[in-house]
Amino acid sequence: MSSGKLAIHGGQAVVPKGMVKPWPHITDEDRQAVMEVLADGNILPQRTLQNESLTREWAEYLGVRYCIPTNSGTSALHMAVAGLGIEPGDEVIVPAFTYWASAAAVLHHNAIPIFVDIDPHTYTIDPTKIEARISDRTRAIMPVHIHGLSADMDPILEIARKHSLAVIEDCAQSHGARYKGKLCGTMGDAAGFSTQASKVLTTGSEGGLFTTNDELVHKRAALTQYLGELVVPGRERETQDYNAHGLGWVYRPDVFGQAFVRSQLKRLDANNDWRRKNCAYLTERLQGTPGLSTPYEPEGSHHIYYVYTLEFYPEQLKLDIPTRAFRDRLMEALAAEGVPNTQWQRMAVPSQEVFQAKDGYGKGCPWSCPYSRPGIEYRTEDYPMTNRFVDRNIYLLGIYPPNGEDLMELYVQAIEKVIGQVRELF
Ligand SMILES: Cc1ncc(COP(=O)(O)O)c(C=O)c1O
Repeated sequence: MSSGKLAIHGGQAVVPKGMVKPWPHITDEDRQAVMEVLADGNILPQRTLQNESLTREWAEYLGVRYCIPTNSGTSALHMAVAGLGIEPGDEVIVPAFTYWASAAAVLHHNAIPIFVDIDPHTYTIDPTKIEARISDRTRAIMPVHIHGLSADMDPILEIARKHSLAVIEDCAQSHGARYKGKLCGTMGDAAGFSTQASKVLTTGSEGGLFTTNDELVHKRAALTQYLGELVVPGRERETQDYNAHGLGWVYRPDVFGQAFVRSQLKRLDANNDWRRKNCAYLTERLQGTPGLSTPYEPEGSHHIYYVYTLEFYPEQLKLDIPTRAFRDRLMEALAAEGVPNTQWQRMAVPSQEVFQAKDGYGKGCPWSCPYSRPGIEYRTEDYPMTNRFVDRNIYLLGIYPPNGEDLMELYVQAIEKVIGQVRELF
């Protein structure tokens, strides 16, 4: 165990500078894949090739019928909302703990997000609390497979069947994660993946992937992606008839990003196994440390650890310090020890200003729109498990390849050092 003076008080940091390698891990194959886009000097055939190849390869990886590469995870989720025929004033159930993009994708279609609290162990939507939030306007449930762990899909699918609701999977953080053997993104009616820079499958910049098994949902999503027209990106002159079939957006993906994702996809499962190994090491070493708790992986789940979560409990250390203040100070102390960490969500999504003001884009829309149900309220106190997690957690970063067990061991030593001297921090 590492001891000595805390780095925040001038002692030596446990993790040496420069040891944590960045994500994504870029290989010569990745470089070559992106260079090939430029190789023949004519980018148009490359647009078609990269788009059609990624469409096929991601659908094959998941074992689904349809995929549409997009410019973001949010647009892929919006395409799912549009593809399922969700209309103004319809309601979609979303977990209170997520990136607000899950809810924004609903608002983008003039539909209304209705929030449900999370399970305190998995941090995914609590299925036992869904039915209380279903109204005669509810059309879909959007479970979010957060941090790389699947939501508890069996009860969610059962509730959806019982109430004739669609299921949209938010897979922004869960490429390759499984629930009882099934890949995330294959259990609902449609799914949206993000391939933004930090994600486990990434363009290195911005991007997303929409998927479904349903022909009509796919067709509507395709219209939404391409400004309401039916076009294969890269085949504009052959396929475009310049006749908009309805309102759409410009959600087209970038050619270089698609080439990069295709190259990264070849290593997705290996990269995820690497993350799992690093995180299993952390959990094994840190489990039982007083004052903190490690992530939970339910039986039958295949967690792919987009990030590694820790929750802090000052009360276990007999410290009478507010949880947020305690967590914030530990974040600083760990950062000083060279352990990259962050706090993600600052509040439950329904506590954010847009929901408190109930004003998306002026004049109180879409809540004030004629088709929306009046009287919808967003109360912070309705999401106690989300608030609890938001106050106590941090994300440990750098748990991805090529970082390995040697670094994880130093993380453990740094955490033990900080917890061992925790009283000196206050
Ligand atoms: C849970 C969740 N949903 C949706 C998104 C939106 O993805 P993007 O940023 O690619 O639009 C993100 C991205 O961080 C996310 O974490």
